[in-house]
Amino acid sequence: MMIQAKPLAAALGAEISGIDLRKSLDAETISTLKQLLAQYQVIFFRDQDIDSAQHKALAEAFGPLQSHPAYGTVEGYPEITILESTPDKPTKIEEWHTDMTFMPKPPLGSILRSRISPEVGGDTSWASLGAAYDGLSDKMQSFLSSLSAVHDFAHGFRHSLAEPGGRERLARALEENPPVEHPVIRTHPESGRKMIFVNSLFTTHIVGMNECESEALLGFLFKHCIKDEFTCRFRWEENSIAFWDNRSTLHKPINDYFPAHRRMERITIDGGKPF
Ligand code: SIN
Repeated sequence: MMIQAKPLAAALGAEISGIDLRKSLDAETISTLKQLLAQYQVIFFRDQDIDSAQHKALAEAFGPLQSHPAYGTVEGYPEITILESTPDKPTKIEEWHTDMTFMPKPPLGSILRSRISPEVGGDTSWASLGAAYDGLSDKMQSFLSSLSAVHDFAHGFRHSLAEPGGRERLARALEENPPVEHPVIRTHPESGRKMIFVNSLFTTHIVGMNECESEALLGFLFKHCIKDEFTCRFRWEENSIAFWDNRSTLHKPINDYFPAHRRMERITIDGGKPF
C-alpha cells in the first residue's frame, strides 16, 4: 500500500489513504504521517475501525499522552476523552478553539475518532492559524509579535461552572489550571511557520492592554482567523479519524444535528511551551 494525500481545501486538510491504522506503524510510516501533519495541519482517515488500544497506540507513536481535567473518559483508558452529545445532554462545545490552551504546554495534536455520527450534520471545521497569520499586513504582524495573551480554563468552562454543582465538580480542575500566558504569535517548532495563537474559547485578554483595546484586538483576531479561505470542513462517517496539529489550527464542531446522538473519542498528545 502506498500512502497518498488528497487535499481537502487550499489552506489545510487532506484525506490520507493507503494506511491501516489498526496495525502498529513502523518508523518510516510515522515519519511520513508527521510530515503530512506538518504540511496539511489536519489529516483525515476513513474506514479505520480501531479499538481503544489501537487508538492509544497510534497516538503514543507521536508522544506521551495527556488526559482532560473536565471530561469523562473511556473505561480503562484515562487518556481517551469522551465528547458526547445526547438529547438529554447536548454538547456545550460551541466555539472555535485550539484544544486545552489553558495549559502551560498545550497539546501538540489531537486524534479524534467518530463512534456515533448523526445521519446528517455534525461535521467539524478547522482553520489554519498559519494561513491566518500570512493574511495579516506586515504592520499588523509586527505589532502582534511582542504581545502575549492570557488563556483560562475557568473562562472556557464558564457554562459548566455555572451549572448546579458545576463548581464542586470542577473544583480540582480549576485549582490545577490557573490562567496561563502564551505569545499571541507563536512559531511552529518543526516548520518554523508563524501563526496566530489566540482562540475565543480560552483567551481572555491581551497582557498590558486596557479592556477596550484588548476586546477590540481579540475580536478582530477571532474573526480574522476563521475567514472561509483559511478553513476546511470534514464530514464524519462511521470509523472516520481526524488528526490535527493543535499548534497551528482552530476547530469547531457544527452543532446542527440535535436531537441526534453524536459520540467522539479524542486523545491529546503532549506539546511543548509555545514560543
Ligand atoms: C473537539 O472540540 O475537540 C471535538 C470536535 C468535534 O467533536 O467535532
